[in-house]
Amino acid sequence: MCMTVLMKALILVGGYGTRLRPLTLSVPKPLVEFANKPILLHQVEALVKAGVNHVILAVSYMSDLLEREMRVQEERLGIRISLSHEKEPLGTAGPLALARDLLTDNDEPFFVLNSDVICDFPFEDMLKFHKHHGREGTIVVTKVEEPSKYGVVMYEVESGRIHRFVEKPQVFVSNKINAGMYIFSPTMLKRIKLRPTSIEKEIFPFMAEENHLYAMELQGFWMDIGQPKDFLTGMCMYLQSVRQHTPDRLKTGPGFLGNVLVDPTAQIGENCTIGPNVTIGAGVVLEDGVRIKRCTVLKGSRVRSHSWLESCIVGWSSSVGQWVRMENVTVLGEDVIVNDELYLNGANVLPHKSITDSVPEPRIIM
Ligand SMILES: *[C@@H]1O[C@H](CO)[C@@H](O)[C@H](O)[C@H]1NC(C)=O
Ligand SMILES: *[C@@H]1O[C@H](CO)[C@@H](O)[C@H](O)[C@H]1NC(C)=O
Ligand SMILES: *[C@@H]1O[C@H](CO)[C@@H](O)[C@H](O)[C@H]1NC(C)=O
Repeated sequence: MCMTVLMKALILVGGYGTRLRPLTLSVPKPLVEFANKPILLHQVEALVKAGVNHVILAVSYMSDLLEREMRVQEERLGIRISLSHEKEPLGTAGPLALARDLLTDNDEPFFVLNSDVICDFPFEDMLKFHKHHGREGTIVVTKVEEPSKYGVVMYEVESGRIHRFVEKPQVFVSNKINAGMYIFSPTMLKRIKLRPTSIEKEIFPFMAEENHLYAMELQGFWMDIGQPKDFLTGMCMYLQSVRQHTPDRLKTGPGFLGNVLVDPTAQIGENCTIGPNVTIGAGVVLEDGVRIKRCTVLKGSRVRSHSWLESCIVGWSSSVGQWVRMENVTVLGEDVIVNDELYLNGANVLPHKSITDSVPEPRIIM
């Protein structure tokens, strides 16, 4: 007889992704492409590789687009994907109670992760580590430069057993923070009620007190890409990781500098200089003499000749004129038109706008 282990993962998607506006005004956050692939698929594909065959998305809004895309991915990946819909926001723990029936039909541990996290996902190592210590929960931790801005995790280095959590420590106690990825045994669910609850503040401290919570340190990069500035920083880190593991995916040759990812359907003109740290989406057209560094250009956009872009996200099907200069985390929503010869500094442009004047100081254009 063949036994298939059913492994599950719950992804905390939450609300409308307001921090990633204006992109999330057009597309649900999980479907926004990060390095030419929807954010959610980075996570789901890594989960499937680790043996997960049922993914539950905890959402606090419904979207036909998201539902349709999930049916397509179920088929493509050969797994089940469920949407668990919160009628009111339930925080970071409540969604586990809402999905209780889906998570407890066997005794296998299940993964929980925050949908904004990008890293080299360590799901197989988490499962091994969790089974080895045998208690209720494992949380992944990552090292940060400035621990005083975060809540830090204090744990025994040898075993990983967590003693306690300290919010924004003023003296150095640890530089490891919660990376937003967990694996739990189903018995842990008895701690959570169906009401808005913070897993970090109302659940973890009690698990730690009872020696039921362990920390596993993440290797490699980690970024929460929930806002444009961090999305770009995360993209730089991700491309560096691609360079280390699968350098063939990166574009090389005259005009390409450093780490650059280009969809094969993009068209690039003469005398362009692209990179370092750029991703160019499907069907994008870059005309002659364009200079782009540290940017994401999304599907179907066009940048006309001799424009200069640094630290920008160009939304889907947008059009940037000739001799334009855009910088300092300028983000164009979907279908934006920027006229020739303008200067945009930190502009955040809502979908379907035409820009006819320069934006010399950072602001939102509605
Ligand atoms: C590109 O990204 C890498 C990795 O984060 C970084 O070290 C490098 O400074 C970046 N280069 C530019 C020009 O942003
Ligand atoms: C590209 O640069 C070369 C050398 O400067 C120049 O001869 C050529 O005309 C340029 N091509 C375009 C399309 O501007
Ligand atoms: C870049 O944007 C930030 C925040 O949006 C702003 O504080 C800073 O002054 C801008 N830099 C320049 C050179 O305008």
